[in-house]
Amino acid sequence: PSLAKTLILFGATGDLARRMLLPSLYGLHADGLIAPDFRIVGTARSGEDDASFRAMAEAALERHVLPENRSADSIAAFLDRLSYVELDASRPESFGRLADALGPRAGDGIAIFLSTAPQLFEPTIAGLAAAGLAGDNVRIGLEKPLGFDLASSRAINDAVAAAFPEDRTFRIDHYLGKETVQNLIALRFANSLFEPLWNAAGIDHVQITVSETVGLEGRVDFYDGTGALRDMVQNHMLQLLALVAMEAPARFDAAAVRDEKVKVLKSLRPIDAASIGSHSVIGQYRAGAVGGAIVPGYADELGRASDTETFVALKAHIDNWRWKGVPFYLRTGKRLPARQSEIIVQFRGVPHSIFEGRRLTANKLVIRLQPDENIRLLVMAKEPGLDRDGILVREVPLDISVPNAFAGVRRRIAYERLLLDLVEGDPTLFVRRDEVEAQWRWIDGIRAGWKATGMIPGGYAAGTWGPTAAIALTERDGVSWHD
Ligand code: BG6
Repeated sequence: PSLAKTLILFGATGDLARRMLLPSLYGLHADGLIAPDFRIVGTARSGEDDASFRAMAEAALERHVLPENRSADSIAAFLDRLSYVELDASRPESFGRLADALGPRAGDGIAIFLSTAPQLFEPTIAGLAAAGLAGDNVRIGLEKPLGFDLASSRAINDAVAAAFPEDRTFRIDHYLGKETVQNLIALRFANSLFEPLWNAAGIDHVQITVSETVGLEGRVDFYDGTGALRDMVQNHMLQLLALVAMEAPARFDAAAVRDEKVKVLKSLRPIDAASIGSHSVIGQYRAGAVGGAIVPGYADELGRASDTETFVALKAHIDNWRWKGVPFYLRTGKRLPARQSEIIVQFRGVPHSIFEGRRLTANKLVIRLQPDENIRLLVMAKEPGLDRDGILVREVPLDISVPNAFAGVRRRIAYERLLLDLVEGDPTLFVRRDEVEAQWRWIDGIRAGWKATGMIPGGYAAGTWGPTAAIALTERDGVSWHD
């Protein structure tokens, strides 16, 4: 694939651009990972010009890049790469102006990133195609949400496919850009230690928790009516599940990795009206205390009553040989006690204990994505000392933490990896159409189950781990959530 010489950023004045995309591009610039002649063209509807866009970008970098990771000189050089084109996606002539602004660069490699409302995807793609900006030299990155159900996601994918073939379409799931998520792939497939146990014989269950302390954050239009299932499970959590559960790909390339992930996604046992009550729990936060501060309930923040779930817990099954009978418990929510994202792989215990009267804890692999990134293997070890009753055993963590093993490495934003891959044309960490559609198919079934049974979210106090029913979901199986 050709190296893009220009990145066109749609939604360049938006929140994601300021918090993540511009800081990530700056990170690539500061580390010398993008070519000296690489340019970034921001577009949005607001009437900026080059100077005001650069000023906005500068403010964003000062706010969102740590002081030790930036310098005035390097920021100035970065800002020189930026320019701005005002663009209204509903007006085809806007795209002509974009093409004019690119000048001879329009013929070189171009990467486009759409970080706009999904309603704008269709007109934007049509406008790009009409302006001659969808040729073989152009690839397109799409930020979520890619639809709100299978049908709408297909409509978006069809509209994109009319101008960009699949191999030039890069669907972002920023969780795939997280260092620890890639480390999970390394852990599984660069070590021989885990694979023999990585199946129903060795693993009791898997837990995936993505908990957040934030609430609605003013995203009323998007979040209300979307909810936790579609905002977090459909994309990020199912991608994590697929990486944990997939077979070994023959090589680390886009086709092989995505072929394996999609097989997992297609093997998810549907949760339907009959199983929904025992396999899902939904909740909505009420007022409560998070991190010492009293916060209002969801409906109060919203200003009206709503059936949108801000918490969901699921018990999923993967119907294949490897995972027969192994539950995958998923849970995510807003206004929970801590910002903590973890994958827990719970191994089975020893078949027989020789340490009479001692409690043995089964081994656990804890892959932590947030707030810090680390991987720990919890094993039993002897406590030092001369105990009269024989050997005292205790659970201790074997630490494979990124910060410990690789001290001094700057912690990167997930988008740095993904933007670099988009610029360089490597789709391995992007989501293929059949994956997104398999994800939606499973999610749509769950939503249909809620609808058919009239299930609505139960309340939970902000600052707690969701409705008590979420605890019962695992306790029924003799399993506790790892808090
Ligand atoms: C986004 C969701 O995709 O992911 C947000 O729309 C959520 O609701 C965010 O807060 C979480 O991302 P991260 O990287 O902070 O875990």
